[in-house]
Amino acid sequence: MVRIDFSKLFLTGHPEIDADHRLIVDAINGLSRAIQDKDYELCCERCDHFFESIEGHFGREESILEELGFPRLDGHRESHRNLQEKALTLKGCCLEVREKNNPCPHIDDLLDIVIADFIKYDTEFKSFLDWKGFSTGELPSFAL
Ligand SMILES: [Fe+2]
Ligand SMILES: [Fe+2]
Repeated sequence: MVRIDFSKLFLTGHPEIDADHRLIVDAINGLSRAIQDKDYELCCERCDHFFESIEGHFGREESILEELGFPRLDGHRESHRNLQEKALTLKGCCLEVREKNNPCPHIDDLLDIVIADFIKYDTEFKSFLDWKGFSTGELPSFAL
């Protein structure tokens, strides 16, 4: 069963982005539980909820970064579009298997999308947010 605990590594320091990231973690854990319980109806509901939360998140994060003047926003938008495309393909696959009463077969791929956003891409703007006064409260590793 897939389960992620919200790690301090996921924190960006921006309250709205961090709240969104927590909701996404809850969404994927909830989906995973439904798969484990073989509750297919709930699985479909939670699958939809996951896709909605990730799509909503990308847009909100981009607006926040745009408002703050993040200089590498175009590259970040591009990364989001790639993840979104991947998510849409998976959504299509999930809709196909619903008919057959199968649980979501792509939970690991969905988890990859979450980890790519949180760890691979969002770390790109952490120091920018810190400079803008949104601190995670963590000491930089070189100071330890
Ligand atoms: Fe994000
Ligand atoms: Fe992002």
